[in-house]
Amino acid sequence: MTCHLLIPAAGSGKRMGADRNKLLLPLINKPILQWTLEAAIASDAIAWIGVMGQPHDYPEFQKIFNALNTTKPIRLIQGGSTRQASVFNGLKSLEGGDRVLIHDGARCLATPELFNRCDRALQTMQGFIAAVPVKDTIKIVDGQTIVDTPNRDHLWAAQTPQGFQSDLLKKAHLKAVELNWEVTDDAALFEKMGLPVQIVMGEETNLKITTQQDLAIAEFILNQRNP
Ligand code: C5P
Repeated sequence: MTCHLLIPAAGSGKRMGADRNKLLLPLINKPILQWTLEAAIASDAIAWIGVMGQPHDYPEFQKIFNALNTTKPIRLIQGGSTRQASVFNGLKSLEGGDRVLIHDGARCLATPELFNRCDRALQTMQGFIAAVPVKDTIKIVDGQTIVDTPNRDHLWAAQTPQGFQSDLLKKAHLKAVELNWEVTDDAALFEKMGLPVQIVMGEETNLKITTQQDLAIAEFILNQRNP
């Protein structure tokens, strides 16, 4: 079984205090996006990769693609002004592929084994997300006051990859455009459509690079993997 992979990579570096796309920042010896791509390429489950970017980043993205040692097709796709818009553009540019995985370029520590597990999940599921059980107690807060403490046994932290039957995810995105739904992940669109989304065990180390501290932690984890 193989699936197509879309990588939203069209964001900025604002929250990192960087003046350019954070995915181009160096992590040890190569850009963050290159780590993400190399993990995906190393997974036999991935047959085709689309990367959504902003045109001003294309030359740098192309340099990264040129440095990859692979025969898998990798396409550059214009991103949008939100992650959701970037994924929508990616879906419109899919070249075949009944099953699609969406994986944030900023989650550069996901392993090839996780991609393989996600591919296997899509053989039986209509939609899923990689997720891990939360370790902290989570509070629902209104202003500065706690209004609820949900039972932790039912709380999972959402990661990517998230995987879907492609035609169903396309329908969900079209509906979102029609009804102005704005969400932060693709599972939320599936949920709004009343479609089932299941859980696949993610990885504790599959963090999303958001802050300078994340970059330092990622460097530590990668050095542990390849001493
Ligand atoms: O900013 P954040 O890390 O939450 O974004 C999640 C992912 O979505 C990142 O990989 C980022 O590059 C991507 N993104 C995108 N298009 C946007 C905004 C974010 O592809 N307009």
